[in-house]
Amino acid sequence: MRVSTLFLFCLIGGILSCNQDKIYINDTIDLQLEAAMAKAATNGDPSFFKLPETGDYAALPQAPNNPITSAKVELGKLLFFETGIANNPAYPNAKGTYSCATCHVPSAGFRPGSAQGVADGGLGFGHNGEARTKQSIYEEWELDVQGVRPLSVLNVAYVENTTWNGRFGSQGVNIGTEERWELDEKLAINKEGFAALESQNIEGLETHRMDITEEVLDDFGYRRYFDAAFSGWPENTKYSKKAAAFAISAYLRTLITNKAPFQEYLKGNRQVLSEQEKKGAVLFFGKARCYNCHKNKNLGANEFYALGVKDLHEVATSFNTSPEDPRNLGRGEYSGEQEDMFKFKIPQLYNLGDAPFYFHGSSKTNLHDVVEYFNDGIPENPNVPEEYLARQFRPLYMTDQEVNDLTLFLEQSLRDPDLDRYVPVSLPSGNCFPNNDNTSRVELGCN
Ligand code: HEC
Ligand code: HEC
Repeated sequence: MRVSTLFLFCLIGGILSCNQDKIYINDTIDLQLEAAMAKAATNGDPSFFKLPETGDYAALPQAPNNPITSAKVELGKLLFFETGIANNPAYPNAKGTYSCATCHVPSAGFRPGSAQGVADGGLGFGHNGEARTKQSIYEEWELDVQGVRPLSVLNVAYVENTTWNGRFGSQGVNIGTEERWELDEKLAINKEGFAALESQNIEGLETHRMDITEEVLDDFGYRRYFDAAFSGWPENTKYSKKAAAFAISAYLRTLITNKAPFQEYLKGNRQVLSEQEKKGAVLFFGKARCYNCHKNKNLGANEFYALGVKDLHEVATSFNTSPEDPRNLGRGEYSGEQEDMFKFKIPQLYNLGDAPFYFHGSSKTNLHDVVEYFNDGIPENPNVPEEYLARQFRPLYMTDQEVNDLTLFLEQSLRDPDLDRYVPVSLPSGNCFPNNDNTSRVELGCN
């Protein structure tokens, strides 16, 4: 409609007024977007949504006892991909075959390329992590798999309590829940008073069957990296899992999607988003009310809501989870409070187009379906009683065109095209990564 009107203007008024008309239309949508973002931003300023530049460590949220330094980031960037720290597998043949990046694959937006992450006991990679499956000698319960889809670690600097149910971290929403930490050995880490990311990663090295051994330090060449990153630390902790987790935390905090087109737009490049993407953004920050929940800088939030989506056991290819899995209770599993049942954390929204699995149970396989789900406002999981559902989860009455516009904004405007800058070229060990089992080696071109 608008294009043909524009064409008519061109014919009547000649090239000059055609250009003017174009500028007029663009200005209008830009002004609309500016106004919507200002209203949505918690401080009333659209630049609230601007992410820091890569390398500007001072601008990143960080733990006072673990300031970000380039030596830590360098070490963390290697350890996150290092298959050589996979030292405690259930079966000896899996030693040295998996890494953090097995489940947080960079090309998949730092999520797995499949519905569920499989580290120890897994086999294969495919092109984007989509082909990873189970080794035959492993029983389901012996695999390193979880009952929820791995979260992205992009923009995790803005996450105050990690995991879908927010169980790690002694601050933020976990203040007042201290008695929970006595009940589960895995939550005892919260008593140490570290920030969520440090706690998560200390626990993560354990959960994912990894260790910093003499072999890692001396044969794989990591001792000098630990020396550089933790020069002030005593010998008995300098090469520990805690030090490794601190370095990985520093690295993860630098994984900022500041090259996404929407970020370029916020920096002042008005041409980088198409008219349709801008309309999608206006919906996100306006009529569709996405910003009500996805309101922090990473377009996630440290809050929990029930959207009534399906759980991971309903995906045919998932392992070691079931309708009785307590993890299906979300925040309620952690807190034990009725009011928290079936609630999950509001995740960040950048680079979601890089792997087609959405929600904690990977129940959606494209972003259009996710937007339709919000538009319809009808829960898909009969096990979630209606009274638990988020009040804001109700029909939005967007037209098909609006659904497409909003989908395009998520898929394209929020996609940083250069995540390779956060991936090492090679590892000091020379190991294949992110996976190092025989099938993955072939698929990753390591042989
Ligand atoms: C087997 C797959 C797997 C491996 C390997 C893995 N993760 Fe994860 N990761 C997950 C899952 C699943 C979640 C969500 C857990 C939950 O909600 O209970 C997660 C969550 C996280 C989070 C929290 C993100 C947030 O927004 O709350 C961080 C940080 C993280 N992982 C870092 C790591 C690091 C560091 C390693 C290596 C030491 C690692 N992961 C290895 C599956 C994995
Ligand atoms: C009531 C708060 C709320 C509102 C409003 C909301 N979201 Fe969400 N969103 C969430 C929560 C909570 C999740 C995770 C739910 C789960 O997996 O159980 C989520 C998940 C998502 C995901 C999947 C991300 C992933 O990693 O799997 C996308 C995409 C998304 N939301 C986009 C939107 C869009 C677009 C809108 C506006 C139409 C919107 N959200 C409105 C709370 C909200």
